[in-house]
Amino acid sequence: MSDTVMARALLGRDEQTVRVDLGARSYDIRIGRGLLETAGAEIAAVLPGARLAVIADETVAGLHLDAFAESLKAAGLDHTAITVPAGESTKCFSQFERLCDEVLAARLERGDAIVALGGGVVGDLTGFVASAVRRGMAFIQVPTTLLAQVDSSVGGKTGINSRHGKNLIGAFHQPALVLADTAVLDTLPVRDFRAGYAEVAKYGLLGDADFFTWLEDNWQAVFAGGSERDEAVARSCRAKAEVVAADELESGRRALLNLGHTFGHALESAVSYETERLVHGEGVSIGMMLA
Ligand code: GLY
Repeated sequence: MSDTVMARALLGRDEQTVRVDLGARSYDIRIGRGLLETAGAEIAAVLPGARLAVIADETVAGLHLDAFAESLKAAGLDHTAITVPAGESTKCFSQFERLCDEVLAARLERGDAIVALGGGVVGDLTGFVASAVRRGMAFIQVPTTLLAQVDSSVGGKTGINSRHGKNLIGAFHQPALVLADTAVLDTLPVRDFRAGYAEVAKYGLLGDADFFTWLEDNWQAVFAGGSERDEAVARSCRAKAEVVAADELESGRRALLNLGHTFGHALESAVSYETERLVHGEGVSIGMMLA
């Protein structure tokens, strides 16, 4: 354990760890406020000596890349930062091709790793790049939206959109580590927080009535931040980790996690994925009501 991680443990900062149990491909989801500051030490503990390509969209890079880069430097990890435009249209072939080229140009080898710093778009695109470059590289998710922290960063679904529909080209490629810093959600617009909350409520609807009741009692505190927010993220991740461990490749039970998503994707398609009109979590929220 590094000095920084040890110091945090001694100071009693309450992070939670959820294990995704997938045999040799098992990994931890670390959840807590301020994890970005110690991300370097956390990554170095899992992938010692790896060089990193860090992929972020322009908005997230402006908000969080400096702090993240600082923690990598403190842990002695070299990195190359690559930015992409914000928005769903970035999940496309041309960005996929560009990122593969940039990762190779940075001379990353197998044994190095690619980091997604951002929301679902960056996580899905980056994971797909990691699944393809050199026939598969290690991949770390640092989700910065509620939706990514409770859903898209966990479970290894990666991909891009096709003219035939959303997420139709991709691969299952599990991350080696997920670092969910719940403090970064403080800068998330409330509309996006609410959209991510739809996925949190989904876990309550999928057979955890206690969690649903707890959310009904605590949603304001979850929105406000603090320990209830961490608890909601951790309970959601535990629910997802359990389903993914039982059915990684979605041959049965994992399809439950798509509750509301068929309607949701149709609604997103009907507005041509224009996020000013509808974001994914809003589509899921309306879709769950329709379902
Ligand atoms: N978002 C649904 C799943 O990961 O299976």
